[in-house]
Amino acid sequence: MDILSFQSHTLIEPFRIKTVTPIQMTSQEQRIAALAAAHYNLFLLRAEDVLIDLLTDSGTGAMSAAQWGGMMQGDESYAGSSSFYKFEQSVQEISGFKHIIPTHQGRAAEHILFSTMCKPGDVIPNNFHFDTTRANIEAIGAEARNLVIEEAYQPDFLHPFKGNMDVDRLQRTIADVGPERIPLVMLTVTNNGVGGQPVSLANIRAVSEICHAHGIPLFLDACRFAENAWLIKQREPGYADHSPLKIAREMFHYVDGCTMSAKKDGLANIGGFLAFNNDEWAERCKLKLILIEGFPTYGGLAGYDMEAIAIGLQEVLQEDYLRYRIQSTAYLGDKLRQAGIPIVLPTGGHAIFIDAGAFLPHLPQNQFPAQALSIALYQAAGIRACELGSVVFGRRLADGTEEPASLELVRLALPRRVYTQNHLDYVVEALGYLAHVKDQIRGVQITWQAPQLRHFTARFALI
Ligand code: F0G
Repeated sequence: MDILSFQSHTLIEPFRIKTVTPIQMTSQEQRIAALAAAHYNLFLLRAEDVLIDLLTDSGTGAMSAAQWGGMMQGDESYAGSSSFYKFEQSVQEISGFKHIIPTHQGRAAEHILFSTMCKPGDVIPNNFHFDTTRANIEAIGAEARNLVIEEAYQPDFLHPFKGNMDVDRLQRTIADVGPERIPLVMLTVTNNGVGGQPVSLANIRAVSEICHAHGIPLFLDACRFAENAWLIKQREPGYADHSPLKIAREMFHYVDGCTMSAKKDGLANIGGFLAFNNDEWAERCKLKLILIEGFPTYGGLAGYDMEAIAIGLQEVLQEDYLRYRIQSTAYLGDKLRQAGIPIVLPTGGHAIFIDAGAFLPHLPQNQFPAQALSIALYQAAGIRACELGSVVFGRRLADGTEEPASLELVRLALPRRVYTQNHLDYVVEALGYLAHVKDQIRGVQITWQAPQLRHFTARFALI
């Protein structure tokens, strides 16, 4: 040991905090009342009643001083805004695409893409469709089909790239359905629905070869592209020495276009885009953009939003940031495992996914164990998580019975640059406590639901 050989094992946040938002603990009585008023749907809580909000990593990140400074430079011109050209250049540097179409968030990019490219009866394969992607496809009368590898459905099975698409099933799907009924294939990076799991470059390459052999365009749902790039650097042989930017460029190189929610790896609070090279698609998509979002040099965004995204896309690829980001997810996962909580393994990018089915074996799927655990976590400790089980991915059939989801997961999504290691320790403490009293956690039933995207508005009652 000498003075110069110090090596830290502490995970430090690679930033100083300049602006803070106070959060405060509520009483048990307040939380019980808040839950009842929200019909046991955590989406219907007031955020001020939440101590630590892990509902989503979407739009909830903290922006940097550079981003706030950039916002003051926003050019709010209706047409030809200089902020648009900065935004366009930033996206082009990473993706290499020619046409960059700004939208107010990811789902607007999805809506424009699917309503332009798909027709009723089409089939759109994806490794795993997120809820808005599926809903936008089904709204057109097309089918959203999940082709993720089987290993993804075994929460404790260790596989470095559990987000990968099953290429044999893709080939069989193309043979069965016929390429003329598949207007595009998508790969979601990272794969949010089944654990924030990455997709390997080998898989992107293989899927790209199959699609292109049949003349089918391939798109990335690129919301968490930087986290995916970092996990490739960590886990895929041959990429350890590549920069995240270089890996991201290779990811985009194999595909024909992407949809993006800048609320995730854009490090912005709002925004998104659609990007590709094809001139004919651009013409059609821009017509739709003008109809529902705005003129092509702002789409659904203010000039200052485009400034924030342009800078955020550069910051998100910095190695210090990505190392801290993925290590803090792993830190939370490791501590929860030590506390005996079953989680999806290996830990992925933006979130820890608790296997509520395994955690609460006394609750059958028709009593929504993942929703029950989310309610208990809020009730006990003021922590808001997100159900990703049969409420989100299941559905009620015409005969009134429920078709359950493959997994009952509770997602603890980590907002970017917002919570410290102490906040995460509190989450571990709360869940460790619940592990001792889990037999007391009651199931729930749905008392009212909307026909689509039911999780946002459904009402529940405790059983
Ligand atoms: N694709 C994926 C993989 C997503 O996770 C999301 C949003 C979207 C598309 C839609 O983007 O919200 O900007 O319209 N996911 C958030 C979440 C809401 O909590 O996972 P958006």
